[in-house]
Amino acid sequence: MGAPTIEIRDVTKSFGHFEVLKGVSLDILAGKINFIIGRSGEGKSVLLKILTGLYRPDSGSVKFGSVNIAKAKTSEINKLRRRMGLLFQEGALFDSMSVGENVIFPLWFHNLATPQEAKKKALAILGELGMGRYFNLAVSLLSTGEKKRVALARALIVDPEVVFFDEPTTGLDPLLGSQVDELIVHAQKISQATVVVVSHDMAATLSLADRVTLLRLGQVVLSGSPDEFRKSKDQEVVNFLSGGDSA
Ligand SMILES: Nc1ncnc2c1ncn2[C@@H]1O[C@H](COP(=O)(O)OP(=O)(O)OP(=O)(O)O)[C@@H](O)[C@H]1O
Ligand SMILES: [Mg+2]
Repeated sequence: MGAPTIEIRDVTKSFGHFEVLKGVSLDILAGKINFIIGRSGEGKSVLLKILTGLYRPDSGSVKFGSVNIAKAKTSEINKLRRRMGLLFQEGALFDSMSVGENVIFPLWFHNLATPQEAKKKALAILGELGMGRYFNLAVSLLSTGEKKRVALARALIVDPEVVFFDEPTTGLDPLLGSQVDELIVHAQKISQATVVVVSHDMAATLSLADRVTLLRLGQVVLSGSPDEFRKSKDQEVVNFLSGGDSA
């Protein structure tokens, strides 16, 4: 089917009386690296959860090709989620299991491969990430950066057409952060996937992204190339790029 464009139109989402998303419209470009940025609490993670089918929007549409995930049946959403790789924050790995078992987990869970095929695939993808020799090691013994790589391998093992990363570098030291940035680019190259990254790291955003979207007060301020961001005279954009992001 190929990496999808995701068309987000007029998405709203409230929690109680608090309207977090007030009509968000943007296109996630197929096969490209798309960054979503904004201050803390602006609704970036909520938007990601809507894109991955974990939350339903109150109104609006989110189309993956012909499927509108805002309205789709749970079975349809589950089918779509098999095409997705998710890398959320720390703690997503099973500490009591080995590296290999963690990486194989989605294949096992979705019943997508025989045990032999799964092992072969996990070894190959861990090898690509320089982690092949850790296959039998307990995850609890790994460093933070190594755990990120295992989480990335687990996100990529299903050959996802779209990969979501929520703040992949938050809490890492600068060196590890830039290693993870490289992994994001690597992930996009090896799988030709559509990549969506939520980030607070402006330098990474401007150097890695094909498309950047700035959220503010529940709406899109600007969605464009890093160059359009650098050249923008919009005060919100200027403030944000000059370090207005306090989180
Ligand atoms: N399940 C929920 N129930 C109630 N409020 C929620 C829920 N999920 C998110 N919110 C609220 O929605 C707002 C946006 O949250 P979100 O996590 O999307 O922010 P964010 O932009 O990802 O921030 P950060 O950069 O700090 O991660 C916050 O005020 C949060 O408290
Ligand atoms: Mg968040």
